Amino acid sequence: MSSLTNKRVLLGITGGIAAYKSAELVRALKTAGAEVRVVMTSAAREFITPLTLQALSGNPVHHSLLDPEAEAGMGHIELARWADLMIIAPASADFIARLAAGMGNDLLTTLCLASNAPLALAPAMNQAMWRDTATQQNIQQLLSRSEKKPLIWGPAAGEQACGDVGPGRMLEPLELARLAAEQFASGALAGKTLLITAGPTREAIDPVRYISNHSSGKMGYALAEAARDAGARVILVSGPVNLPCPRAVERISVSSADEMLAAVQARINDCQIMIGAAAVADYKVASVAGQKIKKSADEMILTLIKNPDIIATVAALPNKPFVVGFAAETNDVENYARDKLKRKNLDMIVANDVSRSDIGFNSDDNAVTLFWAEQQQALPLASKHQVARGIIAAIATRLQEKP
Ligand SMILES: Cc1cc2nc3c(=O)[nH]c(=O)nc-3n(C[C@H](O)[C@H](O)[C@H](O)COP(=O)(O)O)c2cc1C
Repeated sequence: MSSLTNKRVLLGITGGIAAYKSAELVRALKTAGAEVRVVMTSAAREFITPLTLQALSGNPVHHSLLDPEAEAGMGHIELARWADLMIIAPASADFIARLAAGMGNDLLTTLCLASNAPLALAPAMNQAMWRDTATQQNIQQLLSRSEKKPLIWGPAAGEQACGDVGPGRMLEPLELARLAAEQFASGALAGKTLLITAGPTREAIDPVRYISNHSSGKMGYALAEAARDAGARVILVSGPVNLPCPRAVERISVSSADEMLAAVQARINDCQIMIGAAAVADYKVASVAGQKIKKSADEMILTLIKNPDIIATVAALPNKPFVVGFAAETNDVENYARDKLKRKNLDMIVANDVSRSDIGFNSDDNAVTLFWAEQQQALPLASKHQVARGIIAAIATRLQEKP
């Protein structure tokens, strides 16, 4: 089975003479098992017909950003989320300039802005255009990005369609398909199974009421996606959240901490890594009322008892996986995090300062510090997706270092 099997590749085609080779690239990607959707710029449609690409990809070709009908079908944000990998081949000098400037003036540039999938550019242009200072500066600008830095595949040097000889030829379709396959084969967590707990738990008071917390599950879900993208098989044990199940992730939905522990225990023996990102309620109600409690007394006292410590239970297993915990602290973050790391026998802890107003439970951003052994690594304020990738990369490095 190819590493491209069932992978979703969004192929962007821009207005260059090499666009005719994009048809062959679609075929090569499809033959390797990928699902392919094509997005064309207006200029690209002057070089090759959408019909050819529709027939080869087996999917309608996307072109217009401001088309209500297209938006009602697979809208641009949906398309951006759909992709596991975006390849722009050929990438024209003009498109590269627009990308470097952060423009979103057509469907393809907007998708590049909106997608978190890795982006690869296969530049193709006349050698003088490639060598031009503006083009070179645009490429350098893109490569200097700390986030969403695109991969630049090519260009090759040789004879060009215009008769010139030099750098600027698009890499051959089979070579581009090979590079695409490499993206998925070299996942840092390939062959590993990883279990993540995410979201809050709900502790019942009676059949209609419960105790819970503000966890949105966003960080845990972003970690599940990042681990999947790094090649891991991912089992997501999730408390009640308003998030769709990430693609190619196995989700087990639970409600209470007891249910979460049972789901984790049922699957943990298959796993080499466990990340406890759930905000598990520390306490549960000692005796849950079988019927709705009536509002009669002026005062009500609930007796709470401690919930099981899921992550410590896993970390105490004789064959324990690599266990990563979270510490949400409001003060003295490092001390509390290091104490928890030791006390619970964890391999790594992800600490965040929830006293900050710019990050936290429902936010789309986060900033964390990772602690392990005597070391630490700060991941500065970024989207939860970016932070998740950083955490997964650090876990993969630690796993490689461990005997
Ligand atoms: C015949 C012809 C061939 C072209 N080939 C290329 C090319 O290989 N690479 C390139 O960067 N621009 C090429 N261009 C110029 C682009 O088509 C032009 O910059 C266009 O605005 C690109 O639009 P797009 O980036 O939205 O697709 C060519 C133009 C013509 C007329």
